[in-house]
Amino acid sequence: MVNAVSVSEKSTLVKFDIEAASPEEADLLAQLDPQRLPGHVAVIMDGNGRWAGKRHLPRVAGHQAGVESVRSTVETCARLHIPALTLYAFSAENWKRPQQEVGFLMRLLRHYLRAELDTLNRNNIRLQSIGRQKDLPATVREDLEWARAATSGNTGMILTLALNYGARAELVDAVRSIVADARQGGLELEQIDEKLIQSRLYTANLPDPDLLIRTSGEMRVSNFLLWQIAYAEFWVTPVLWPDFRRPELLQALVEYQKRDRRFGGLNGDAVRA
Ligand code: FPP
Repeated sequence: MVNAVSVSEKSTLVKFDIEAASPEEADLLAQLDPQRLPGHVAVIMDGNGRWAGKRHLPRVAGHQAGVESVRSTVETCARLHIPALTLYAFSAENWKRPQQEVGFLMRLLRHYLRAELDTLNRNNIRLQSIGRQKDLPATVREDLEWARAATSGNTGMILTLALNYGARAELVDAVRSIVADARQGGLELEQIDEKLIQSRLYTANLPDPDLLIRTSGEMRVSNFLLWQIAYAEFWVTPVLWPDFRRPELLQALVEYQKRDRRFGGLNGDAVRA
């Protein structure tokens, strides 16, 4: 006998190329409208240290556990056919952490790139990174370049890792590039508009995020994509990053689809009234 859950599991499988692992996931998938998914999801992955602290483990154990959430989020977004996912993996301010923690994060990143390359290719994901890359350790830069080149032929989701990233530094770099052009006489004042600035950001090849997710409950933006999130919908969850898995991501997407996005205008009903 076919019951309601298995019917919805089957139909969501066709829609999204995802096999629901539980009735909860099947229910969330059934609520999602594939036509109205965000074009770009950005994530501030926070709470690794607290996750470890609660378990009386060293902070780095939280980062290690957080890699599983990265894997789950990347693969689920790709299978939902979300065009772009950006993860805040290491901020320009994170260098202030103890050297041992910074070193661990860099090694973890290199390990992730090596371990996940096959999964990225299997899911047709293109990897890139943003931030002041020249200040990253040479070994990390080499591995990033290797993973970027090895996935450059893929045509599906663009996965962007923000590393040594700060939004203010990004704006400084954009202004510098515009002024350099102007100095060479190649740019008139009137040509400086929002489109030009957007084209000089690290994210020039990406649409602005529609959805910004932050885990661990903090209500702040932490110097992440300040220009690009002008009209993003925020979803802040108290769940700590290592506990953020597929059901939590699906919940965020369901909530996103409930939002009335007006971009400063009026919604359809108000316009008709
Ligand atoms: C914030 O938690 C998290 C980070 C600074 C690093 C995020 C890194 C990962 C999730 C793992 C590696 C990433 C990739 C892409 C493989 P926190 O340490 O600030 O937590 P707390 O606020 O509870 O102390």
